Amino acid sequence: MKSQLIIKTSKILKDYSKHTNNIVIYADKSLKISPLAKDLLKTIGLDLKKISAGVQFLGQVGQHLDFLSPANIKAKRVLILGSASSKEEKENIPNEFQVIGGILAKLLVSLKQENVTIILENKTPQQIAKIAAGLRLAHYKFDKYKTKKSPAKTPNKLSVTFHVKEKSSTNKAIADEMAIVEGSLFARDLVNEPPNILGPVQFAKKASDLSTLGVEVEILTPTELKKLKMGALMAVGQGSVRPARLAIMRWNGGKKNDKPIAFIGKGVVFDTGGISIKPAGSMEDMKGDMGGAAAVIGLVKTLALRKAKLNIVAVIGLVENMPDGNAYRPGDIITSMSGQTIEVINTDAEGRLVLADALHYTKERFNPKIMIDLATLTGAVMVGLGQEYAGLFSNDDALAKKLFEAGQNSDEKLWRLPLNKAYDKLIDSRFADMKNTGGRYGGAITAAQFLQRFVGDIPWAHLDIAGTGFATKPNEINNSWASGFGVAVLDRFLRDNYEG
Ligand code: BES
Ligand code: MN
Ligand code: ZN
Repeated sequence: MKSQLIIKTSKILKDYSKHTNNIVIYADKSLKISPLAKDLLKTIGLDLKKISAGVQFLGQVGQHLDFLSPANIKAKRVLILGSASSKEEKENIPNEFQVIGGILAKLLVSLKQENVTIILENKTPQQIAKIAAGLRLAHYKFDKYKTKKSPAKTPNKLSVTFHVKEKSSTNKAIADEMAIVEGSLFARDLVNEPPNILGPVQFAKKASDLSTLGVEVEILTPTELKKLKMGALMAVGQGSVRPARLAIMRWNGGKKNDKPIAFIGKGVVFDTGGISIKPAGSMEDMKGDMGGAAAVIGLVKTLALRKAKLNIVAVIGLVENMPDGNAYRPGDIITSMSGQTIEVINTDAEGRLVLADALHYTKERFNPKIMIDLATLTGAVMVGLGQEYAGLFSNDDALAKKLFEAGQNSDEKLWRLPLNKAYDKLIDSRFADMKNTGGRYGGAITAAQFLQRFVGDIPWAHLDIAGTGFATKPNEINNSWASGFGVAVLDRFLRDNYEG
C-alpha cells in the first residue's frame, strides 16, 4: 500500500516568521525548548511558563499545547509537544523518541494537518530518526479492501518536514531507521492480509520478490519437500487444496566464510485446527498464524534494505491447516525429516510439526551459527504472559540474554520461560518417538520442548509470538491489527551483537 506520509529534512531557517507551514516544537519536562523555538515564541509573544501553569502543561510525553492564529507569523498554528526528558521517564519509555513520533502522527491526523514543519535543531540524528520511525509506524493503516474510505478515519495525506542542523547525517540515520520500519510494515501487511488472498503460493511469491533487493531466494514445492522426506510439514498441509511451500532466503552481506545466523518462521496461512477443528469464535484471527514467517521475511527485507554486513539464512514453512477427506488425523504417526516419528494427538498442534522439519532442514543444510524460530505457536503463552511479552525459550543462556536485552531496548519485549528435560515425559508417546501435545499444563513449554528435539546442538532460541503478533491493543506506534512483532527486536539483536 502506498504511504500517505512524506517525511523530508531541510536546513533550519534563521527566522520562522515568514514560514507558511504550521510548526511543531518540542518542550521537555522543565519546559526547555530549543533556541530557535524560543525565538519563535518570542516573536508570537507567548510566555510558555505562564501559559503552562494555567493548563498544567508539564512537557510530558502525550501532552500538547495548540496555538491557533499566532500573531506576527505566517503559520496558522504552532503546536508544542511534550518530550519528557527526566531520567525516570526515559527508562519507562525505552524508545522515547519513537513514541513521541507516534503520538505526533496521531495528533496531526486528528487535527487534519497536511503540511507541517518540526523544528528539531537541538536533537541528534538518531533521535530525529526515531521520531520519523514513530510517525511512519503510527500512520500505517491497512484499508486496501475498503472501497469506501471514510475520510474521518483515513489518515490524511501528511507531509512532515524536519528542520535539522545536520541534514546529511540525519538523512542517513533516518534511512537506517526506516529500513526497520519497512520490514515491520511488510510483516504487518502480510499478517493483515486475508487468508483467501494470501495462500502458501502467494506468500512464497512475496519471498521471491525480495530478490530485487539482492536476496537469494529458493522456493521448494511439494515434489521437492516429499523428496526431502518432510513428513511432518507435509502432513499439516495435506488437507488443503493449496499446496505447501518452503521458502529459503539468503542474505550474504558478511564475510565469505562466516557461518550464517538462521531464522525460521511458522507460516500457517490459516489454522482451522484441522480435524481437531477450532471453535468458530475468533477463528478468523487464524489468518495471522503466519506471523512468525511474516516477521522473518520482514527481517530479511530490513537487512537487505540497510545492507547489513551479516550472513543470514531464513526458512519459512508455508502451509494451510484444513479439515478435509485428505487431512491428517489424530492417531496418525508421521515421520519427520529427521527420522523421528510423531504421534498426532491433536491436529491443531500443527505449528510445531511445520517447524520440526524447517528447523531440521536448516540445521542440516546450513549448519548455522545460531537458529532462532518465530511462531504464533500456543494459546498457552498468552495465558502466561498476556500480550506484552513474547515467550523466549533457549538452549543457550548467552543467546537468551542477548535476546532479552534486545527486547528491552527495542520495546518488543521477550520473557524467558524454562526448558527442562523433566517436561519431556509429557510429550513421550506410547506408539511413536513423541506426540504433538503435552496436555494443558505448561503448554508453551511442552511445545518448545518438542521443537528442541529438532535442533541438535545448535545454539537455538524459540520466540512464541502468539500473544504479540496480532490483535494487540492499539498503542502509540500501532493502530493496526497486526503488530509486525519480531522485526525490530531481531534487528536490534543483530546490530548489537553481530555487526560492527
Ligand atoms: N495457532 C495456534 C496458537 C494460537 C492461538 C495463536 C491463539 C494465536 C492465538 C496453534 O496452532 C494452536 O492451535 N495451538 C494449540 C495447541 C494445543 C492443541 C496443544 C493451542 O494453543 O490451543
Ligand atoms: Mn493450531
Ligand atoms: Zn497454529
